[in-house]
Amino acid sequence: MRKAILAVVAAAAVLLPFAPPAQAHGSSLRDAAPRYLRIGSAVAGGGHHVDQPYPDPFPNDREYRRILAREFDSVSPENQMKWEFIHPERHRYNFGPADAIVAFARRNGQVVRGHTLLWHSQNPAWLQEGTFTKAQLRSILREHIFTVVGHYRGKIQQWDVANEIFTENGEYRQENIFIRELGPGIVADAFRWAHQADPRAQLFLNDYGVEWPGVKVDAYETLARQLLQQRVPLHGFASQAHLSMRYGAPDQLAGVLQRFDDLGLATAITELDVRMDLPVTDEKLATQAVYYRTVLDACLAVDGCNSVTLWGFTDKYSWVPVFFPEEGAATVMWEDFRKKPAYFTVRDTLASAPRHHRR
Ligand code: G3I
Repeated sequence: MRKAILAVVAAAAVLLPFAPPAQAHGSSLRDAAPRYLRIGSAVAGGGHHVDQPYPDPFPNDREYRRILAREFDSVSPENQMKWEFIHPERHRYNFGPADAIVAFARRNGQVVRGHTLLWHSQNPAWLQEGTFTKAQLRSILREHIFTVVGHYRGKIQQWDVANEIFTENGEYRQENIFIRELGPGIVADAFRWAHQADPRAQLFLNDYGVEWPGVKVDAYETLARQLLQQRVPLHGFASQAHLSMRYGAPDQLAGVLQRFDDLGLATAITELDVRMDLPVTDEKLATQAVYYRTVLDACLAVDGCNSVTLWGFTDKYSWVPVFFPEEGAATVMWEDFRKKPAYFTVRDTLASAPRHHRR
């Protein structure tokens, strides 16, 4: 009987030499992805989840963890490594929740993207509202970076060192307490300290609104050139890619990433989601899939683009409805984890990507 089945399978293989690529490379996103590209997800917890009518997602939702392990080979703590979460008091660190994610990643053969070290948002009150001299602020940042990056030394593939440091006008964000008080030179120091604390981690600049060329991208390119010229350990530039279907698909993203690739930097997509105006329709779901494919294609077109991370994989835990009440359905799975057209498009795009990287 077994032989007969094998014979049928062999005959089918001859008759159907062009089997669908997603099946040829397995049935999960991580199976479908070529080796040079990590496919990741944010790990839901902290932040907006605190106010929602469900318990902290990652530790409490076993089905969620099962899918996270099966589908992805990279994970990013959504909030659990941010200052207010991991460093809630000046002399106290709270590593437990992030440690659990790092341990989970190890068990499941996943890499971790650390997020984030220098940001204007989600800083603890003791930092934002404290009274510090410039020297104290500098040593607070230095100590934080050495402590947190050092704690995870050797366990983090990429760190978002500097997050959202420019405004839409390409100016340094004055809401960022460190930039405002210490000047933009602190960005270079943050990279230097992170590199000293973990010389193997790839260190990134990360932002939204950089999916199209413009003054913000120009500001990043200028900064990247300066840092590289000063031999600052900058290794990558990342586009978050929080997209809304109110605007067009990011059809110039490959060009943007290529500008940083040309500088010798790695590139990555770090927070991809595609929100739509509610209610959902089949037509909107089809358009959403095109947006997801556009972003994946952009990364696949650039030699050094080495990871694509979704900012969550299920609408159950998405940040979008909390921030944009009229929009939603931004992820690739429904609240009950059924897959949307965008999921299959992502999987097929990964499966049909060239298997061997050029760099
Ligand atoms: O700061 C207040 C605090 O004072 C209050 O006690 C608490 C309880 O209501 O709320 C706190 O603010 C929350 C914040 O997380 C900090 O915990 C916000 O309501 C909540 O909306 C926020 O959500 C997170 C958001 O970052 C904050 O900017 C989301 O969970 C998280 O998904 C989102 O992720 C960011 C990336 O890190 C960077 N790129 C953009 C992306 C989406 O905004």
